[in-house]
Amino acid sequence: MEMFDRAELGSKTGQLSFSLSGTKQPVSGILRPPDQTNSKSKLVAEYIRLFQQITRGGLYIDGFAAPQSRDHEESWTARRVLEVEPKRLRAFWLCDVDPEGIIQLNKLKAAHHKNPKSRYVYIQHGDFNQLIHGILKTPKMRRNTAVFALLDQRTAECHWSTVEAIAARAGRTKIEILYFLGTSWLHRSLSQSRTPERLAQLNLWWGSDGWRSLIEKSQVRMVEAVGKRFTDELKYRYVKPYPIYQMEDGNRVSFYLIHASDHPEAQKLMDRAFVKVVGDAPGVDAGRQKTFSFELQPDMRQTTNSG
Ligand SMILES: C[S@@+](CC[C@H](N)C(=O)[O-])C[C@H]1O[C@@H](n2cnc3c(N)ncnc32)[C@H](O)[C@@H]1O
Repeated sequence: MEMFDRAELGSKTGQLSFSLSGTKQPVSGILRPPDQTNSKSKLVAEYIRLFQQITRGGLYIDGFAAPQSRDHEESWTARRVLEVEPKRLRAFWLCDVDPEGIIQLNKLKAAHHKNPKSRYVYIQHGDFNQLIHGILKTPKMRRNTAVFALLDQRTAECHWSTVEAIAARAGRTKIEILYFLGTSWLHRSLSQSRTPERLAQLNLWWGSDGWRSLIEKSQVRMVEAVGKRFTDELKYRYVKPYPIYQMEDGNRVSFYLIHASDHPEAQKLMDRAFVKVVGDAPGVDAGRQKTFSFELQPDMRQTTNSG
């Protein structure tokens, strides 16, 4: 397996085709949002712009939705996605456990709920690992409805059982997932975890104490191990990790976003969004990123998503 890095992907040439208005001014004195936060939110919003061209609608779930950088709402994924034009996605479930984050989410809702009239924004306060079960029962989620779920945890807050529940929801195609993996700090976080509470949390994150095997792995092998769970255990057909860099013009990967989908076009669209947002320098073989993906074996496909 080959890894792709910043040098292979080159500089940024793409301009995004959505805009932000009424940007909140930072209060902390930090004028720019962190580059990786900015790249992540641009990538998701650009992907959603392409996704909705194909689906002509659809639903959006954001399990960890309050802004990463509380003072930089302009780089906030939920906001960027809600501002994508034209406004085709019909319903959004934006969840967070933090009361301050919920205040910001409610302000966002005030600007977008029923605007346009057909659009619904639901803010849910609490642990997403509990909330998801109610969300998956909504009558809005019909068999043919396209659904996208962003699982943008900080490190290990999203239980594996939550990812399993999303993957198992019956439908014509599985819910698409974009799953955050904080590779650049995961080693240290895992190896320094000692308290029973922290170990219990990691067991919920991984679904067992199998996370211990990650400690021995390089960052690339960690991504591979997690990515393969989406194909092997959750039966997603197309799985691919996308690196997000610490500095927009640097080459150190901060974290990966693992994209899992059942639709061959979805991965192509994410490739396009990635190249547009992260870069495509002249003379650079951006296509090499395609080597780092996992595909479900044909015999396993027959058993997927029959519900
Ligand atoms: C990485 S931040 C999300 C960043 C955001 N997606 C953005 O684009 O800026 C993670 C968020 O998850 C929230 N969180 C942590 N544990 C949670 C849980 N169990 N359920 C829901 N939200 C949680 C935190 O309060 C924080 O706002």
